[in-house]
Amino acid sequence: MNLKYLLLFLIVCISCKNTNKETAINTNTYITPKPQYLVKKEGTFTINNNTSFSFSDEKSKAIASFFIDKIKGYTGIELTIAENKPEKNTIYLKLNDSLSINNEGYNLTIDSKNILVEAKTHQGLFYGMQSVLQLIPLVSEEEKNTITSVAIPTIEVEDEPTFSWRGIHLDVSRHFFSVEEIKKQLDVLALFKINKFHWHLTDDQGWRIEIKKYPELTEKGIRVDGTSKEKEFYTQEQIKEVVAYAQERFIDVIPEIETPGHAVAALSAYPELACNDKENYQPRELWGIDYNIFCAGKENVFSFIKDVYNELIPLFPYKYYHVGGDEAPKKRWENCPLCQKRMQENGLKNEAELQSYFIARVEKILQEHDKIMIGWDEILEGGITPTTNIMSWQGEEGGIKAANAGHDVIMTPTAYSYLNFHQGDYRVEPMAHGSYIPLEKVYNYNPIPEEIQEDKEKHILGMQGNHWTEYAYEGKDIEYYAYPRIIAIAELTWSGENTKSYNDFLVRLDNLYPTLDFYNINYHIPLPEGPTANNIAFIDSVSLEFNTTHPVKMVYTLDGSLPTPESEVYKNPLTFTEDTKINIASVLSTGKISTIRKLQVKKVSLKAPSSVDNLASGLVMKTIKGHFEDASAITGTPSNPKIIKNIQDANVTFDWGKDIDTTQFKAVFLKGFVDIPEDGVYYFASKQEKVKIADSLIIDPEYTLKRFPLEGTIALKKGKHPIEIVYINNVIKGWASDWNTVEVTYRKADETEYKAIDSTMIFH
Ligand code: ACM
Ligand code: ZN
Repeated sequence: MNLKYLLLFLIVCISCKNTNKETAINTNTYITPKPQYLVKKEGTFTINNNTSFSFSDEKSKAIASFFIDKIKGYTGIELTIAENKPEKNTIYLKLNDSLSINNEGYNLTIDSKNILVEAKTHQGLFYGMQSVLQLIPLVSEEEKNTITSVAIPTIEVEDEPTFSWRGIHLDVSRHFFSVEEIKKQLDVLALFKINKFHWHLTDDQGWRIEIKKYPELTEKGIRVDGTSKEKEFYTQEQIKEVVAYAQERFIDVIPEIETPGHAVAALSAYPELACNDKENYQPRELWGIDYNIFCAGKENVFSFIKDVYNELIPLFPYKYYHVGGDEAPKKRWENCPLCQKRMQENGLKNEAELQSYFIARVEKILQEHDKIMIGWDEILEGGITPTTNIMSWQGEEGGIKAANAGHDVIMTPTAYSYLNFHQGDYRVEPMAHGSYIPLEKVYNYNPIPEEIQEDKEKHILGMQGNHWTEYAYEGKDIEYYAYPRIIAIAELTWSGENTKSYNDFLVRLDNLYPTLDFYNINYHIPLPEGPTANNIAFIDSVSLEFNTTHPVKMVYTLDGSLPTPESEVYKNPLTFTEDTKINIASVLSTGKISTIRKLQVKKVSLKAPSSVDNLASGLVMKTIKGHFEDASAITGTPSNPKIIKNIQDANVTFDWGKDIDTTQFKAVFLKGFVDIPEDGVYYFASKQEKVKIADSLIIDPEYTLKRFPLEGTIALKKGKHPIEIVYINNVIKGWASDWNTVEVTYRKADETEYKAIDSTMIFH
């Protein structure tokens, strides 16, 4: 049982017997991110209705009011604001210029009489109070009626962040998130002292911020994806509302207007901003990269950007602005007379230098407003101005190069900080972008790579988690991907290499789940991994070993019932000699249970091969033209049969550009025999609609969006077995299945490496 809950349970029991002792107690000193220095002292401080806030300056009153609301929400106890500084029972917020900590740091002293928070800035006072808040027990709604005080441990803390950039990025172009959803995230991020919100407001799929001078940006520049979220954007009033909310939580908001690439939404509204203004641009339905970008040869593009910033500057009162700069293909510039003329006139050797010219002009616009520019690391390719700052996403190399050359850098390498990547095995987790970044990998990241020269380390401002939302449809999805990894980022950027400790973090994380529940955060719980298929064939016996990405209890049943926190605890590999249904889930110390993984093991015998002779190589292919969501939707008359020599030949691969050849939409049926090399239980994996081997449906996904291979098993004797594959060329939720290779891979049950079924194995 979670410590906080255990204590509350004890307290409630005590209060059942003794109505005078109505105090909730939290004796742990868990604060996340881990403070630089913390000592526990003897005794407790009691917060009750007579506890008051006092402060050394009037502006701190807003911080006091903020935490009065928070403490009331946690405990039901309402603190007051004192007229003068009382002797006892006060939380004193004191600005103190002489402290030897940085501007975001704080010193915290909790003794049995008072709480003292000291800092050089209001931001420091706010963080000191966030630490206090983490010590306050969460009281259930019923207990709020009976409890009149809460006790917290007496401690001494000296704390300051290691990095000044502790951020999160959110793409609201691919999918839109409402003001309420954003506010909810900011409120929780502030608990962990995250201080930067990088708001990716424009991209190919949608321009999501009202620009009064260019109303068509939000009338035409948003994709219609058939959901209720179509054409959603933030009005300037809503932007102000979010910024004010963030300011109250000491989070800077960094807007990003993508240039020169990822601009199709803008071009859809104003095609004159493209190299070719005759084309009918539409906001992109597909994910990926588009060839159509802002023209670098036209002056009206720069006046457009200038006008946009004229409206942005009053909305975002911060020094940093992000101008994008990533993934801008140069194909259109190469063929544009105006772009080529610009290169000639300015002595630019290539299109990479033209991109540098473009970005430098955008920077100039920002500098006229005293703003500092940040761009993705691709802008290094053609050279950057001395005042450019870099967000290093493709890896660390860009960041290392820029920092060593004296530019400020924020580290966001995909391999560590992409929150839209899987945090567990893709075969178990919901749809995500791909790759694999478990919590521990994020936690162990050090934003200062060894290659940074010592005197240049100061140029690494910090790190942020980036969240691209192609596969996040609602607020609860962004929470699932972000938590708990964003807390790891908060800790590694605040506490730093010398203070952080993963095992200690895991203990504190366990204690944070009730807080995340209080804020209704849909955080990730490590799922039972290990077996890669859910239907597993075996001959004599099979042993299943489960594990989780970080330690958490697993519970299971073998009788088909759903597991509860009280079910059998998984300890050792489970061995089966009979058909069995295994339902297994992870369960937190709070009793919260994960999604349930349902597996089935089945005792089978080796299937005999077909007695076929004189087969020719290749498979028979038939197609039906049309756009089909899945196999059940396929209708029409198949084409005449054709022979293909490789399974991959069933597909023509598109590039990542705009054009998707809709004439290629079709269902493809492949039929023939697969030559199995030796007797055994085989695993097959495929991203296709259906794979049938020896008359058993091995691959049959229940979902329509097919990005990752599903796995299935069957026991086969050596020889030729019938195989049927259904492949659909379609676009589902922004994903073109033609981006998948059409293939079926296999391995024997006791092997780990998959091999593709190649041309030597298929016959008809
Ligand atoms: C990026 O992920 N394209 C910055
Ligand atoms: Zn051009």
